[in-house]
Amino acid sequence: MQIIVDIAEMQSLAGSFRSEGKTIGFVPTMGFLHEGHLSLMHRARGECDIAIVSIFVNPAQFGPMEDFERYPRDEQGDRRKCESAGVDILFMPGAAAMYPDGPSVFVTVEGISDTLEGAVRPGHFRGVATVVSKFFNIVRPHKAFFGQKDYQQCAVIRRMAEGLNMDVEVVVLPTVREPDGLAMSSRNSYLNPVERRAATVISQALFAAERQARAGVKDPEKLKEVMRDVLRMEKAVSIDYLELADPGTLMPLAGPRDKMVILIAVRLGRTRLIDNLLVL
Ligand code: PAJ
Repeated sequence: MQIIVDIAEMQSLAGSFRSEGKTIGFVPTMGFLHEGHLSLMHRARGECDIAIVSIFVNPAQFGPMEDFERYPRDEQGDRRKCESAGVDILFMPGAAAMYPDGPSVFVTVEGISDTLEGAVRPGHFRGVATVVSKFFNIVRPHKAFFGQKDYQQCAVIRRMAEGLNMDVEVVVLPTVREPDGLAMSSRNSYLNPVERRAATVISQALFAAERQARAGVKDPEKLKEVMRDVLRMEKAVSIDYLELADPGTLMPLAGPRDKMVILIAVRLGRTRLIDNLLVL
């Protein structure tokens, strides 16, 4: 596995892969890698000639009061995991090289960026869309792999790629969960043992709503009440938002629908966690 830090070097290497007719699969990450990230890498490895992973904790997508400074890092462990997943190139640019004048050129995806996560974290999706489009220009992937765990992020990136006519296929893969259902996340490492146990109610609430929906309960308010009942079992969990939305537009459902995405964000102490489930 080759490790590249220099942006120009990455870009010219990607150009030579392309001119040799090789397909490039790309997995952007912020590191502190877990099985969720690895599932994306395995797919990139399986579907493309060259598998490229980036690790970059992107300052532009963190708000001033958020966890940029304390975001978990494990460079050595991450290298080992990428290597054993069969990654060809690990791209780890520095923040000064990515944003020489600070972030000053932005990509904004209007509408879909403004609800849910975007409403709680103003500017977050602008930071994500900006860094991902920079990476697409540097790594020049044929396919880019993202996790459904960050459902709205996938929607924003799809819209960005369509809206800017980017020549890249956006592939979304299922959420990888711990055995007790908790969606894997680098931020789970913030949880103390008590919070970690309490965190299982997040997925339990989603699964309970899914069961009810499949049993014929379609009223969004009733389904939200089912979820609140589960979440109330853990006093440490406070709800940031709980929404049933159209899977395509992410507009909240006003009435019963067969297809929906259930999205949830909670706080547990200082930690903020998100999860979602598609009911189709
Ligand atoms: P990060 O949180 O490191 O996630 C990198 C990729 O892994 C994202 O596509 C995310 O959805 C996916 N992922 C995270 N947890 C997952 C899980 N449990 N199962 C499946 N996939 C999972 O998302 C980001 O970084 C950043 O916003 C980034 C896109 C890299 C831009 O900075």
